[in-house]
Amino acid sequence: MSLLIKNIKALTGIHPKGKLLLKGSELNEFPFIENAYLLTDGDRIKSFGKMEDISSENIPNDAQVIDCKGKFVLPSFCDSHTHLVFATTRESEFVDKINGFTYEQIAANGGGILNSAKKIAAADEEELIEGALKRIQEVQLQGTGAIEIKSGYGLSIEAELKMLRVIQKLKILSPLAIKSTYLGAHAIPLEFKNNRNEYIRIIIEEMMPRIADEGLADYCDVFCENGFYTPEETDKILQAGLKYNLKPKIHANQLSISGGVQAGVRNNAISVDHLENIGDAEISVLKNSNTIATMLPSAAFFLRLPYPPARKMIEENLTIALATDFNPGSSPSGRMSFVISLACIQMKMTPEEAINASTLNGAAAMELSDNLGSIAVGKKANLIVTKEISSIANIPYFFGSDCIDSVIINGKK
Ligand code: NIG
Ligand code: FE
Repeated sequence: MSLLIKNIKALTGIHPKGKLLLKGSELNEFPFIENAYLLTDGDRIKSFGKMEDISSENIPNDAQVIDCKGKFVLPSFCDSHTHLVFATTRESEFVDKINGFTYEQIAANGGGILNSAKKIAAADEEELIEGALKRIQEVQLQGTGAIEIKSGYGLSIEAELKMLRVIQKLKILSPLAIKSTYLGAHAIPLEFKNNRNEYIRIIIEEMMPRIADEGLADYCDVFCENGFYTPEETDKILQAGLKYNLKPKIHANQLSISGGVQAGVRNNAISVDHLENIGDAEISVLKNSNTIATMLPSAAFFLRLPYPPARKMIEENLTIALATDFNPGSSPSGRMSFVISLACIQMKMTPEEAINASTLNGAAAMELSDNLGSIAVGKKANLIVTKEISSIANIPYFFGSDCIDSVIINGKK
């Protein structure tokens, strides 16, 4: 099956196939071709170029033709940080926050992550799959073509394995590219409150071997934060994970300068995520590393936290990515276009920087950028076709809406 997408107002996000991530000022590079076509072959991009250069011999007779007059085409979003497997929403905590409680206070009283864990323990795999699939279908319509999903609302051997098995099924049931992250160290379960070392032992000695045996996760995450896991505990858990081929990809510096960035970098994390609280020391550690700095502005928005200093991070030549953090506690939204709007409005990223951070660099934060995240021959045909808009800046400008006409995943509309 081939698709011929023709008369595209501008085909954007064209980076060479070998370009696997964008650093600092490169983020503002957003190569495009006006009045363009793109041809797919199966699930891949076969060729693209200017309309006047289409050669009819290369187009199969049965190719499905999509006319994109007035519309832009860009790579689909790559959302590298979500917790979209959960059993129930938590809007009562949302109201508690309006009434003055902080995220930390709610967590310390057994709410927050522990609240979600109670609900996961009682849920069966089928209902979790059904709920997560609905969310995936929703974000797919909003332009997401690749996504990372974490466990971490299990916090017991059975429940963590249950979550990871659900994610494994989602990989089969959904056409999106999915990566799976083990986040047993998301909170300390109440019954281990006075014996946290025992829970950490269970993570390392009991959960990790089972997860590795069943091949259930690609990455290992830790919530490195005051009141959750210390940097030393984070080191211990990440190093154990590496023995099972679970690469680190962690929550760092969300609520405080927690030492999480340093812990992530010294363990060669693929990414350190959140970064609402970072200073010069953290930026300089990131600068001398291969770790991607992933920002989750819709979580900062929802919890009324400061936004990461994106401009400074770009000036310091960091590799930055943007993701939604879709979860019931701090970001009940998987809408990447809203993340892009916040990045532009609150963090002063340009639309081009924000889209690159949400596509190629998001793919890099899931080690998928050889296959996804930009327009290049041979890459997966995961594409967004916009409505008729006047420029790509309309995507962040019309905050809260998507500017999306249709989404193509694996070469299929
Ligand atoms: O990334 N900060 C830790 N984990 C999630 C929130 C989880 C929750 O509140 O359910 C986050 O914000
Ligand atoms: Fe998160």
